[in-house]
Amino acid sequence: MKIIVVGTGYVGLVHAAVCSEYGHEVYAYDIDENKINEFSTGQAEKIEKHVNEPGLNNIIRETLGKYLFFSSDLESIIEGADAIFLCLPTPSNPVDGSTNLGFYDAATADIAEVVKKRKDKRRVVFVNKSTVPIGTARHLKDILDSHEVQNFGVASNPEFLAEGTAVVQARLPDRVVIGCEHEEDFKILRMVYSQFVNHVRIKYIETTLETAEAIKYVANTMLLTYISFWNGVGAKIGEKFPNVKIDDLRIGVTADDRISTWGSFVSNGAGGSCFGKDIASLIHQLRRVNVNTKMLEASYEVNEYQKVYLIERAINEAGYKFNNKNVAVLGLAFKKHTNDMRDASSIKVIESLLGKGVAKINAYDPLAIETAKETFEPSKNILFEKIDYFQTAKEAIKGTDALFIYSDCEEFRGLSRTIEETAKPPYLVMDGRRMIPDFEEMISRGYSYLAVGSMVMKP
Ligand code: UDX
Repeated sequence: MKIIVVGTGYVGLVHAAVCSEYGHEVYAYDIDENKINEFSTGQAEKIEKHVNEPGLNNIIRETLGKYLFFSSDLESIIEGADAIFLCLPTPSNPVDGSTNLGFYDAATADIAEVVKKRKDKRRVVFVNKSTVPIGTARHLKDILDSHEVQNFGVASNPEFLAEGTAVVQARLPDRVVIGCEHEEDFKILRMVYSQFVNHVRIKYIETTLETAEAIKYVANTMLLTYISFWNGVGAKIGEKFPNVKIDDLRIGVTADDRISTWGSFVSNGAGGSCFGKDIASLIHQLRRVNVNTKMLEASYEVNEYQKVYLIERAINEAGYKFNNKNVAVLGLAFKKHTNDMRDASSIKVIESLLGKGVAKINAYDPLAIETAKETFEPSKNILFEKIDYFQTAKEAIKGTDALFIYSDCEEFRGLSRTIEETAKPPYLVMDGRRMIPDFEEMISRGYSYLAVGSMVMKP
């Protein structure tokens, strides 16, 4: 099949690469010429600058020029296309959380003008891959009709990839969801995904446009609600009732096959480009049809509260004063194995610490320093000048009075020894991911420890 992937962000690039592995002729298209030029080199560092995903470079290196091509000129690649995957940004409107389709509408109108002029009039399916509100595929059809595009179909094929494991999951997804209106469009997509159609393990689901769109929203809001349940209920039981061990609580509860282990790890909130945006959008979509959205609002609020509450606990429960203190923040990306800082709780943590008058923040992350420098550009907020960046956790801890473990990078598990070698008590460790298993020994040597899911522990 000849496939065009529009938009070479995280979703588009992974999709294009994995499709090219299956022998399709894939054209990854983007209006950003600089990005296209960098991807076309096939060089790891130029690709990783934009999308840092384990395994992705290897695929691009192997298929580039053979099955995978990059272009910023849609007209030159449109002839003979069977499917056009739309992997476009769909940001939130800051006021009400609704999805802003402004960019999507403008981009699809431009694409329609090009497709309309193709000489080859074979059927082409426009496929929404990015998360878009229920009803958007039908709205896309209206846009294409209004531009008089001939012989086309529309489809919804939501993406469920998690960052860091996207390539593995794209090669072996739990499910492939396809929403279409016409059998001929289902047929084209069965050809695109032929390796998954009769798979023994993968669920290949064909349904209506709107159901496919809804599956994505329900899945993501369910996952966030589950995380919020553990943060809002499990963690609080561990924090308020003496002798409740949160890790044993988690193991005991998730021993039931019906209750997932994923999501049961209490944390200082879930970040990333999807959860917050999708739940805000679904709340907005449901409110518009007069549905009570209290449950979703609670999930969202618990998650937002969780992002900075360790700092509040340090003040209220441990009597800690942040004014003029030096604080190390370890982990800046929204989770391990990525440089992505979209909706990372570390942003709120750092803003909150700066608001409490800290003298200096020493920041460290194994992958996200460059992203962090852009995120905390002092022209956005003069207080960001107080942030220094370090190459190792040890260097970041040096000279600080307290530290905040924000993300679940594996290297933070061995941190107690580094802390003890580098910083002397009195010293406060705030652990947003419960990364220090031997914390009791640290406390016996004079360190204060405050973790999600546990009471404050002082020497
Ligand atoms: C998520 C969904 O998993 C994916 O299906 C969807 O397509 C996009 O959104 P992603 O954003 O890459 O993927 O991250 P994920 O691994 O799901 O983690 C999201 C956040 O939840 C992270 O901040 C993570 O650290 C946090 N988390 C996860 C917890 O706090 N506790 C857990 O037990 C699991």
